Amino acid sequence: MKNILLVAASDLSKDQVVLFPKEQPEVLSQLDENQINYIKNQLDKEQTIIGMPSCDSSFQWMVAVEKSDDCIKMAEALRQLGAKVVALIKGQRIASIGVKNQTEMDRIALPFVEGMVLADYKFEKYFTKKEEYPLCSIEIDDRISEEALLELTSVLKATIKARDLVNEPQSFLTATQLSEEMIEMGEEANISVTVLGKKKIEELGMGGLLGVNKGSVAPPTFTIMEYKPKGAVNSEPIVFVGKGVVYDTGGLSLKPTAASMDYMKSDMGGAAAVSCATYAIALAKLPYHVITLVPATDNRPSGDAYAPGDVLKMYNGKTVEVLNTDAEGRLILADALSYADRYKPEVVMDVATLTGAAAIAIGTEGAVIMGNAKETYFEEIDKAGFETHERSVRFPFWDEYSKMLESDIADLKNLGGREAGAITAGKFLENFTESPYIHLDIAGPAFLHSEKGYIKKGGSGYGVRLLFEWIKTRAK
Ligand code: BES
Ligand code: ZN
Ligand code: ZN
Repeated sequence: MKNILLVAASDLSKDQVVLFPKEQPEVLSQLDENQINYIKNQLDKEQTIIGMPSCDSSFQWMVAVEKSDDCIKMAEALRQLGAKVVALIKGQRIASIGVKNQTEMDRIALPFVEGMVLADYKFEKYFTKKEEYPLCSIEIDDRISEEALLELTSVLKATIKARDLVNEPQSFLTATQLSEEMIEMGEEANISVTVLGKKKIEELGMGGLLGVNKGSVAPPTFTIMEYKPKGAVNSEPIVFVGKGVVYDTGGLSLKPTAASMDYMKSDMGGAAAVSCATYAIALAKLPYHVITLVPATDNRPSGDAYAPGDVLKMYNGKTVEVLNTDAEGRLILADALSYADRYKPEVVMDVATLTGAAAIAIGTEGAVIMGNAKETYFEEIDKAGFETHERSVRFPFWDEYSKMLESDIADLKNLGGREAGAITAGKFLENFTESPYIHLDIAGPAFLHSEKGYIKKGGSGYGVRLLFEWIKTRAK
């Protein structure tokens, strides 16, 4: 995993990016009159990133920042500017660069650097030829606290880790490997991690996870990460549950390959989001008790695979008629949600690439959120979503939708109707937890087919920055 070191410094590398107020280039007192005039001239030509000619071989980019009262819009514009600057740096032999804020606006270098680091991301593991001149460190001159720097470093590292996990093919990232990755994160960040293997999962009677795993040659895992710092501000934990389907062929209800099964290595995007958010929370030492549960398996057809028509007995004792083996995420999540109740959580939230319906409804611009928890939770997550630009939109969670899940022969079926597919998936899951419940369907934003500035093609890491921001706000 590539790691760009961020340091607070006032003594910067000779290659620099300087953020200045668009309306007032004169604040750049280090420049002479000719240089200021050059900048004004470029600004007239609508240039916002202005490369300064220099006599030595160093690079200087002056970045014009437009002041706005809308902090949220401004943070996102800064991330996008950071991404643009990184595109200019690529290919130049720059290993470290300084970022200096010469505006009066507080700490705007932070979202700018965030955009830079995320835009610099590339999943390089399987290329034989690696990037020749990687960017290794960024010095930030912007009166930032140690704490803010640690928070940014932590959340970026974790977002990159989540992207890596999603980009890994199933040939490497089996359920067992995914749990190994969580153990590794735990060791580094002081999170206690327990992995339940197939035998234990059988003893517990997790019929959903075992049903989906039946067609697989690889065993399932159920991983528990607990971060309980001394001095945590909460008395009951928040429990996160992430869908860890390391590959979704659809099972016997097989998916077509093109634009469907071909990117189903990303079906553990929820697991990546919750485990890496926990990693970030622990790296930043936020005083907040969180627990993360990841049920993991692949979903395949085979001579022994579960079949449409089968009835599964779930961990909480309820029975489910499987009518489509491609609606597998809800089966493994159901068992984990029931397991979550043992921790008596303040709220339990699952994050999952659960339905094509969610992606069709709102595309890649955000996730779909619903649940029965108190309104305040949704308000908090909505706010964190705007702060991080990992937005979500609320869907209804009316009881009437539950009717669509009635089975002729079991307590529930795993398939709703043609309509409201994202909601019936959430309503299905509601049956498996007694705790206040939130469901986040990230099928749209988890994996991109084309780049969006600092969000690259492939695994986006969606959810890590969102959950980190939410918990950070709660912890303070
Ligand atoms: N993993 C898929 C959902 C998905 C689709 C994620 C597209 C990302 C992009 C999920 O397991 C699935 O196949 N869901 C089915 C459910 C249906 C059979 C009720 C779907 O959405 O078609
Ligand atoms: Zn599926
Ligand atoms: Zn799936």
